[in-house]
Amino acid sequence: MINDFKFQDLVEIQVLTAEHLPDYAGVIRKSFATVAKDFKLTKENCPGHTSFVTDERLSSEIMDGYYPFGLCIDKKIIGFASLTDMGGEVFEMKNVSVLPEYRHYGYGKKLLDFCKTKVKQLGGSKITIGIVEESTVLKDWYAANGFIHTGTKKFNQLQFTVGFMEWSEASTTTFIHKQNHIERDNGFFM
Ligand SMILES: CC(C)(COP(=O)(O)OP(=O)(O)OC[C@H]1O[C@@H](n2cnc3c(N)ncnc32)[C@H](O)[C@@H]1OP(=O)(O)O)[C@@H](O)C(=O)NCCC(=O)NCCS
Repeated sequence: MINDFKFQDLVEIQVLTAEHLPDYAGVIRKSFATVAKDFKLTKENCPGHTSFVTDERLSSEIMDGYYPFGLCIDKKIIGFASLTDMGGEVFEMKNVSVLPEYRHYGYGKKLLDFCKTKVKQLGGSKITIGIVEESTVLKDWYAANGFIHTGTKKFNQLQFTVGFMEWSEASTTTFIHKQNHIERDNGFFM
């Protein structure tokens, strides 16, 4: 854990290109390795998990409508998220990552907020994500960031259930409205 809070002032989100791929691929694999450890996923029992994603696989995602973003301290990438334009104002957000030693400083939320703003700038209105359904802490985190759970699916090649969540401007407004109601009902919103 990094104790120097001055790092926070130096962190910025940069638009990445194909030349950054080897660096951001490493960040994705290292970040998702903690998930693999938590859920006992190995190359043998779950080769499709993101912790084992190859540079080639990530390279195949680079096309029109793919936007890779790096959370950076100067030129060092410490986090990552990508958006893919799926059409119909929908963007898929993938590989949201913060390196383990930089977690719990709000950088993950910074990436989510950046992606929400970016989607609106790109003319989109909805973000979809797939998560490890069994990761309650992750599901709760996305819910606290305005994402709504929309379903689950089991894939033969994956050891875990994939949960689907989505964020939209409309659901955020409803979410804030509901939160205000709960807080008012609990007497916190006087
Ligand atoms: C999810 C992730 C990006 C959050 O990064 P972060 O910079 O720590 O995020 P923030 O500081 O904004 O928020 C921290 C909160 O994330 C939540 N969280 C999400 N996943 C978590 C996990 N696996 N372990 C612990 N906390 C987690 C907790 O609520 C935590 O709250 P706390 O700091 O009070 O303990 C980071 O944990 C990560 O890279 N995880 C591995 C990859 C992954 O699961 N990505 C999501 C793919 S859908």
